[in-house]
Order: sequence, then C-alpha cells, then structure tokens
Amino acid sequence: MPKAIRFHQTGGPEVLQWEDVVVPPPAAGEVRLRHHAVGLNYIDTYHRSGLYPVPLPSGIGVEGAGVVEAVGEGVADFSPGDRVAYGGGPLGAYSEVRNIPAHRLVKLPDAISFEQGAAMMLQGLTAQYLLRRTYRVEPGDTVLIHAAAGGVGLMACQWAKALGATVIGTVGSDEKARIAHGHGCDHTIVYTRENFAERVREITGGAGLPVVYDSIGKDTFMDSLRCLRPLGMMVLFGAASGPVPPFDLSLLNTMGSLYVTRPGIAAYTAKREDLVTMANELFEVVGFGKVRIEVNQRYLLKDAMQAHRDLEARRTTGSTVLLP
Ligand SMILES: NC(=O)c1ccc[n+]([C@@H]2O[C@H](COP(=O)([O-])OP(=O)(O)OC[C@H]3O[C@@H](n4cnc5c(N)ncnc54)[C@H](OP(=O)(O)O)[C@@H]3O)[C@@H](O)[C@H]2O)c1
Repeated sequence: MPKAIRFHQTGGPEVLQWEDVVVPPPAAGEVRLRHHAVGLNYIDTYHRSGLYPVPLPSGIGVEGAGVVEAVGEGVADFSPGDRVAYGGGPLGAYSEVRNIPAHRLVKLPDAISFEQGAAMMLQGLTAQYLLRRTYRVEPGDTVLIHAAAGGVGLMACQWAKALGATVIGTVGSDEKARIAHGHGCDHTIVYTRENFAERVREITGGAGLPVVYDSIGKDTFMDSLRCLRPLGMMVLFGAASGPVPPFDLSLLNTMGSLYVTRPGIAAYTAKREDLVTMANELFEVVGFGKVRIEVNQRYLLKDAMQAHRDLEARRTTGSTVLLP
C-alpha cells in the first residue's frame, strides 16, 4: 500500500504521521501522480498548527514533482509517463502517490530535475507574482525582501536583481547574510540584532522604498511600513513570526498614503492560463541561469516531522525537498 504523511489533530511537528493510504483510480479530470520529490514550504506549518484551518484528518503539502501513472476520464493534456510538477495545492503532496486535478499541473522541462521542480514551483511562482504583478519591479527600484536567505527569499532576491533592482535583504544570521549576498542581495541586514527600518533609511538616504515584501508578519510589519516612501506598497505575504494583529487603517494616511496588500498564490494562479504563463516565465529565468534553485536540505518523506522542526527553528536556507 502507498504511504503518506497525514495528521489527525493540529499541533506541533509530532502530529505528523506516516500512514498507509488508499489511492483509488483517478476520477474524471484527475491524474494519478507518483512523486519523485515533494516541496517543503512554510505554509505546511500553518496547516499543521491550525493557523490555516483544514478539515481533519488531512493530508499535508502543496507542492511536488513526479511522473503521471494514469489519467482519468477527460484528461487530454497529460499522458502516463509525463514528467510534471505543481505548487499551491491541493493538500496531499507529502505522499508517495496521489491523485490530483490535471489543471493544477504543468509539464516539467527536461532540463529541470524532479528535485528542482519540487523546490521551485510554490516558492518560484510566488516570487514571480510578487515581483511581476503585485508590485511590478522596475530597473532602478530599491526593494526590501525579508527572510532573504529562505526559500522564497533566495529566488526573489536573484529575480529582483535580474530585473535591475537594488536589493536589500533581511536575514537571521551572518551565515545567512553571506548566502543572500551570493544570490542578488546588494545590502543585507541581520534583523535579529539591527533595526532594519533605520538601516533602510540610511541605505536610501532617507528616501524610503517603493515596496517591501514581508513574509515575517507580526515581528516586522510596523517597521516594514516605516521603510516605505510616500505611496509605497506593503506586500504582506506570510506570517513566519505569527499573524499581524488588527491595526488602525488611518496610520496608512499619516505614514504617507501607503498601500497594503495581503496576496496569496491561490488567487494569482486560479486561472489555468495565468498558472501556465507564470510557470513558463519561472522556467525561463531558471533556464537562463538568472535564478538558481538551491536545494540546501533533503529529508526522507517519512522524516517530515524533523523537516518541520528545522524549518520552524530557522535552521534551513534556500529550498528543502522531501524524498519518497
Ligand atoms: N502568500 C503566498 O502566496 C506565499 C507563498 C509562498 C510562501 N509564502 C510565505 O513566504 C514565507 C517564506 O516561505 P518559505 O517556505 O520560503 O520559508 P523560508 O523563508 O525558507 O523559512 C522561513 C524563514 O522566516 C524567517 N523567520 C523570521 N522570523 C521567524 C520566526 N519567528 N519563526 C520562524 N522563521 C522566522 C527565518 O529566516 P531568518 O532566520 O533569516 O529570519 C526562516 O528561515 C513564509 O512566511 C510563507 O508563508 C507565502
């Protein structure tokens, strides 16, 4: 019987269980996919902890790469043997084999390995929409990217640099600063010991930034607003330190008529044509070497519990894959 990681109650990494699962033949519109690599993402910890509630018991994981084994009725774009990848759900990626709606899949170019595919789909598509759509980075912009040495961080820093931006990245340690420097960051700020809003003011000569990409949430949100120039855009796209508490919207006026958005990948990839366009752009920047995919941690899928512990303890850099 195939195995998968599932959880029956929310909580710490210990709720993750390695279980036998039944995988029926793919329904209409689905394919049966054998994973060769599965992506580890911070959102997996939100599902597991209950920050993002899901019906229980549940599978977990939203990203993977592998080979199509069978297709359900009406699936025309994929055939058994195709190399494919997906990022952004539905839940259930931490599995040896799964069924998944075909419209969530893209074909993996030959030059991209299963590990790279599993590492890059969610984090890379996120970098794509953040930099190309939420706030469209232009040459000459100076941008702030938090958690610059993380999964989304390393891809976003390289991509922003390739677009002609000056990139400021925050990191939790000197070692992470070194890694971020090697991936497009012009300036790094160790925000565990430096006031990043003050450093940004220094770096920009007091002008402030057109955009901040903030995935940390509670601990950084207010100081991120302080980094913006008038009419600047605060892009809050995660909550690694916890969700931002409610705040007084009139502050946006007094701080310079600021914009705030809280984007998620689901809305940006809801239309199949958007997903395919975004994935093609991602494959192109990776293919041209503008964005290198750094798989810095590998775990056996059955050891997902340890992977979650390391991710939440800030011990990982770049991307992490789980291997069935
Ligand atoms: N909205 C979307 O569409 C979307 C899609 C993908 C990811 N995301 C978000 O993007 C962020 C990055 O995701 P990722 O998978 O690439 O993870 P990641 O950046 O590799 O890991 C999270 C990083 O956050 C930093 N961090 C700061 N404060 C933390 C705290 N209190 N606890 C734990 N980590 C803390 C750590 O880096 P330092 O040690 O350098 O601080 C840590 O390595 C997450 O917030 C995720 O939810 C959002």
